[in-house]
Amino acid sequence: MTEPAKAKVEMEKLVSLCRRRGFIFPSSEIYGGLSSCWDYGPLGVELKRNIKDAWWRATVQQRDDMVGLDSSILMHPQTWEASGHVQGFSDPLVECKGCHLRWRSDDLAGDKCPECGGELTEPRLFNLMFKTFMGPVEDKASVVYLRPETAQGMFVNFENVLNTTRKRLPFGIAQVGKSFRNEVTTGNFIFRSREFEQMEIEYFVRPGTDKQWFDYWVEERVNWYVSLGIKRENLKLRPHTKEELAHYARECSDINYLFPMGWAELEGIANRGDFDLVQHASSSGKGLSYYDEEAKEHIVPYIIEPSAGVDRTFLAILCDAYDEDEAEGEKRVLLHLHPDLAPIKAAVLPLSRKEHLASFAKEIYADLRKQWMVGYDDAQSIGRRYRRQDEIGTPFCVTVDFESLEDKQVTIRERDSLRQIRVPIDSLKATLRAKLGGEDLFVLPDGGKVWKE
Ligand code: GAP
Repeated sequence: MTEPAKAKVEMEKLVSLCRRRGFIFPSSEIYGGLSSCWDYGPLGVELKRNIKDAWWRATVQQRDDMVGLDSSILMHPQTWEASGHVQGFSDPLVECKGCHLRWRSDDLAGDKCPECGGELTEPRLFNLMFKTFMGPVEDKASVVYLRPETAQGMFVNFENVLNTTRKRLPFGIAQVGKSFRNEVTTGNFIFRSREFEQMEIEYFVRPGTDKQWFDYWVEERVNWYVSLGIKRENLKLRPHTKEELAHYARECSDINYLFPMGWAELEGIANRGDFDLVQHASSSGKGLSYYDEEAKEHIVPYIIEPSAGVDRTFLAILCDAYDEDEAEGEKRVLLHLHPDLAPIKAAVLPLSRKEHLASFAKEIYADLRKQWMVGYDDAQSIGRRYRRQDEIGTPFCVTVDFESLEDKQVTIRERDSLRQIRVPIDSLKATLRAKLGGEDLFVLPDGGKVWKE
């Protein structure tokens, strides 16, 4: 549910930037597009991967108590019986008797069609799982589902992970991957689509310590967004009331973000208790429990689940980073992207296309590309080229001029401060590495100077 509020940037501006610069295209556009499906273009795929990598670093790479998993999208159909999705993963659907548009009744403020004001049908429950068939025969026995969440892959692998990693409680499994939901209403660009990606953690804890871990993960996850540059004032916690808790949840809190259409869910954090392990144990006949060495008994851990959407994080990052200001005497659009997330880390810009300068600049470009995604642009004026890089969030431009051929130095221009620093080419990589790592007080290399404040 969206809570109306005014955000800094309108959705149209973001959609237009994404289209214009190749972040996101409508899916199968040449055929008129496919409703609520999106293709991430050359810059979008980089930003998206950087988001997933940042999440993986924070949740798996830098922690002793977490391991990763990549389970399959198609799972045994019994999974979805046990999880409650076959019976209960539904939204209340209403249809307008006038214009025949369909809506989720719990999304509507009144009892009339928001499009034409027409009368609506009685709500009926509509299951959100996509069905398909496994093998050549399309009968009831061969029905399988496209997973509507990645979580179940982690629950059914609980014992495999436990036995192969010998982890002790508390520990968690992390997974990033596609999920599919046949949503009744989609929209708000990539906010709610039918095919999307999730970044989910299932954290197994001793019963009785669950409240403490729930609070821990809520704070941890808010801090993660802030560490990537999202402003704290644009994030808000929304605890669920008892009445709205999902069937499996003992407690749940959404991390809401101030999107262009208002406050809406970016991530959900739930205390799932022992619901999932008990359900899968009874449905599969396998004992999904943990042997507690201290108490010398088997216990069923409780699960804390921080579940984030990759696409919603992408949208929140773009909203937060979007800005318009004036630079070098011209209006500019810019993305203040965190260097870890920026699709292109630096762009090499030769001041002229003259052969000897171009080949010199290309050598620098080839060297930097060994380490980072780097751009090269020699078309139009230097001002236009800066503008193009600002608009896609490139943190640094490396300008190569005729003097560079003599003094073997280049100029680094900073996207946000517009400061320009002249550094020896020998120190260029080290300088960029320090700056991309967020070192504000970088000491200039020998021979380097601040060229312009
Ligand atoms: N395993 C728990 C679970 O899936 P959820 O609240 O239904 O919980 C978690 O989904 C997150 O997945 C949401 O906070 C959102 O970021 C993302 N998400 C869910 N449905 C989505 C959709 N249709 N389009 C884009 N992202 C979606």
